[in-house]
Amino acid sequence: MKLIHNSGSSADVYHTESCNKKAAKLNRASYEMNYERSTGAASAGEEQENAHSSAPRIKLDVNAVTADLSLENAITNRRSNKEFSSAKLPLSHLAKLLYLANGARMPGLNCDAGGAFNAPSAGGLASTQIDVFVLNVEDVEPGIYRFDKRTHELVLKKRGNFATWLKEFAILQVEFGQASAVIILSCDMARLAEKYSIRAYRLGLMDAGHVSENIYLAAQALDLCVCATAGFIDSEINSALGFDGLDQCALLALGIGSTSKDG
Ligand SMILES: Cc1cc2nc3c(=O)[nH]c(=O)nc-3n(C[C@H](O)[C@H](O)[C@H](O)COP(=O)(O)O)c2cc1C
Repeated sequence: MKLIHNSGSSADVYHTESCNKKAAKLNRASYEMNYERSTGAASAGEEQENAHSSAPRIKLDVNAVTADLSLENAITNRRSNKEFSSAKLPLSHLAKLLYLANGARMPGLNCDAGGAFNAPSAGGLASTQIDVFVLNVEDVEPGIYRFDKRTHELVLKKRGNFATWLKEFAILQVEFGQASAVIILSCDMARLAEKYSIRAYRLGLMDAGHVSENIYLAAQALDLCVCATAGFIDSEINSALGFDGLDQCALLALGIGSTSKDG
C-alpha cells in the first residue's frame, strides 16, 4: 500500500522507520520512553545553555493586556491574514502573545513538572523554541531575539532591521516583510531524539503545531493579524538564528502585526 503519493521516497522510509511496532507494547524500554517525563541526561538545548548568558534581556510584562475572548469565539473566528498594518505593534501585545504561545505558567519555578508551560509537549520536554525577528515593535530595538519561555524575557541575539533581508532572501512571500514581528518556531531536535530516537521528528512537528495554534488563537483574542508560513529558505533562517539546522532547526514562521484597520 502506498503511504503517500511519492511512494518509495525518503519521506516514506522515514515514516515507516519511525512507526512504533507492535512489539513495543511488550518492551520495557519502550514503556519507559512513553511514560517517563524526561530523559536521564537530557542534552541542553540553546535555551538552557544560554540561561546564564550576558546578552541584553527585556523583561516582558505578560499581564499588561488581557486576551479576553471566549474560546469558542477565538476558534471560530481566527483566520490567516497577511495584510499587516504599518502601525507599530505594542510590546504589551507581543508579550501576551508569546506568553500564551508557550510561556511558563509559574516563571522561575520548576519547569520540569507537568503543566509548566501553556502548550502541551511530548514528554513535557517543551521542544519548541520561539525566536522573534522584531521589525516594528514599540519600545524594542529591531533585531533578532529569543523568547525565554522560562523567565518571560526577550534575549537579544542580533541587532538590526531584518525586514528587507526577510523579504528578499529568507521568506518566499514578500508580505511577511511588512509584519511587525516574524516569529520562528524551531525544535530542539537533539533533546527530543535523546528520548524518542527516530520518532523525535514527528513529535517535534506536533509540538510546534500546538504552539502555532496557541499563537493563532491569541492573535485573534488580541485583535492582531497573523499568518503562518513554512515557505522560507531553511539554511538562511537557521543560520541567522545560529542553528545548525539539525540539532536545532526552524520549522515554522508566523508573521504578526496590527490589523490593517488600525494602520
Ligand atoms: C503549517 C502551515 C503553513 C502555512 N503556510 C502558508 C504559506 O506559506 N503562505 C500563506 O500565505 N499561508 C500559509 N498558511 C496559512 C494557510 O494558507 C491558511 O491556514 C489556510 O489557507 C486556511 O486559511 P485560514 O487559516 O484563514 O483558515 C500556512 C498555515 C499552516 C498551518
